[in-house]
Amino acid sequence: MDAITVPSLREMKHEGRRIVALTAYDYTFGQLLDRAGIDIVLVGDSLGMVMQGQSSTLPVTLEDVIYHTQCVARGVRRALVAADMPLGSYEEGPEQAFRSAARLMGEGGAQMVKLEGGAFLAPTVRFLVERGIPVWAHIGLMPQHVHQLGGYRVQGRSQVAAASLKTDARTLEDAGASLLLLEVIPAVLASEITENATHMATIGIGAGVSCDGQVLVLHDLLGLSDRFHPRFVKDFMDGSRNILAAVEQYVADVREGRFPGPEHSF
Ligand code: KIV
Repeated sequence: MDAITVPSLREMKHEGRRIVALTAYDYTFGQLLDRAGIDIVLVGDSLGMVMQGQSSTLPVTLEDVIYHTQCVARGVRRALVAADMPLGSYEEGPEQAFRSAARLMGEGGAQMVKLEGGAFLAPTVRFLVERGIPVWAHIGLMPQHVHQLGGYRVQGRSQVAAASLKTDARTLEDAGASLLLLEVIPAVLASEITENATHMATIGIGAGVSCDGQVLVLHDLLGLSDRFHPRFVKDFMDGSRNILAAVEQYVADVREGRFPGPEHSF
């Protein structure tokens, strides 16, 4: 099977083939997700919660993400490996972001970086993309902004907030982002943003079935999380004979448009 690349993700969007992403943090799961047919393995800063037992993503460092990306990248052959830029590693400006992204790619083995923020990040996104670093932008519920947002709650519900997210999406696409993560926003808004994006593929989590692809946190999919279970999570171990079968079921359900259902959306 051909390796997933940035151009092939764009092709998938244009051909209406759904993109399936899942987080992983180590070699064994990197290998297993690749075998199950996952397209993008994300080394998310959710590692703070599921690997380190932190109560948020805020304490995660660049060194932490580099270490876990190295482990995952050793196990992955086909999927594209993306790494989260942790809090404090990119917000000062394009140069700082470039230095951090170069480490995630050069030392960690990532092929794309993900960063949280709207239109204000456009100069940074453009700077990275012009220098050959593919960018996955992340808007909606941004866990690194949890204190400003006042908790983990649905974003984009008012007309003003929805319009602002649409502007963010357009600006980030113009700046060159390849992917856009839409986290916990109304399904109808995610659908509009997806339709308006011509090249940038949208990946949803708690954003309805109309996105170009979906992502989940591995431990949520496996029913291992001891935290609050958000509505958009489904335990794929329920009814599966083993972990590989659960991940394969997730891949099949996303590709066929069976996941997420209305019960997982807002
Ligand atoms: O860090 C993470 O796992 C994420 C999720 C939203 C997929 O960004």
